[in-house]
Amino acid sequence: IRKIGVLTSGGDAPGMNAAIRAVVRTALHNDLEVYGIFNGYLGLYENNIRKLDRQDVSDRINRGGTFLGSARFPEFKEESVRRQAIKNLEQHGIDALVVIGGDGSYMGAKCLTEMGYPCIGLPGTIDNDVPGTEYTIGYNTALNCVLDAIDRLRDTSSSHRRISLVEIMGRHCGDLTLAAAVAGGAEYAIIPEKPFSEESLLRALDKGDSKGKKHAIICITEKITDTHELARRIEAHTGQETRATVLGHIQRGGAPGAFDRVLASQMGAFSVALLMEGEGGRCVGIQNNRLVHHDIIEAIEKMPRPFNQDLFDTFKKLV
Ligand code: F6P
Repeated sequence: IRKIGVLTSGGDAPGMNAAIRAVVRTALHNDLEVYGIFNGYLGLYENNIRKLDRQDVSDRINRGGTFLGSARFPEFKEESVRRQAIKNLEQHGIDALVVIGGDGSYMGAKCLTEMGYPCIGLPGTIDNDVPGTEYTIGYNTALNCVLDAIDRLRDTSSSHRRISLVEIMGRHCGDLTLAAAVAGGAEYAIIPEKPFSEESLLRALDKGDSKGKKHAIICITEKITDTHELARRIEAHTGQETRATVLGHIQRGGAPGAFDRVLASQMGAFSVALLMEGEGGRCVGIQNNRLVHHDIIEAIEKMPRPFNQDLFDTFKKLV
């Protein structure tokens, strides 16, 4: 292997730059050439590809977002689009590709691998919903961002004796919400892994009232229900002022924390080592504090992410 390509795809996540940096620096250290593909799979299709050197990744490790850019590009599902992408890679003489992104990006990497083009997937998303790893790059930083928001909401909701409903990202994964609820001392967590019963939420709030709680924080994962409407119904039921806060894309930005920088650096370096050993079609993860790699096709098809039931049970006892 002589030339490696690297791209970031899907929703950006803090630590992606650190991962790209690790890919570039490890490759150069081993006398390989590295090519940056700009704007994810869209850039791959449009041939937006440029050789990177060590200065391209200087002063990037502490930056949020991804300097390579990212895009949602559903057209990559079409085989003809992927064929063009492979043609572009071959035109540059790029032997293999490192894809940093979430599960959608893994699908693209899986399809390229199935077409005979070797890819390595690195888990980069704040959602923590990627198979084959306990943590994704960006999750820890986003968690701290959500926690900071909850701490701030606690100040104001306790001053006003209000109920605060906080909508948190995660798509179909409740990891961010649950961990933030535990760390932020919330009263209730509504997550996609558990059926949502509005009745039991209202009952829990009544119970809190009888326990002498003067205010409450409720964490809810996005896309479960209309958060503003739910706040109105809670207020109508409890008679207590209720405010909804949708955290939105704030959660995706900002400087990566130390955990994500270290994780991204390790994973980036590991992906190059795998390619040099002749591995392709793998995805990288961290499990039991060790770097691991799995067959990317198997990971997507057969490795559902386990739900942290223990943490959920603990949360319920601490309310
Ligand atoms: O996958 C990351 C994520 O931030 C999800 O939490 C969220 O549902 C989605 O991306 C938002 O996507 P977009 O930035 O395209 O609106």
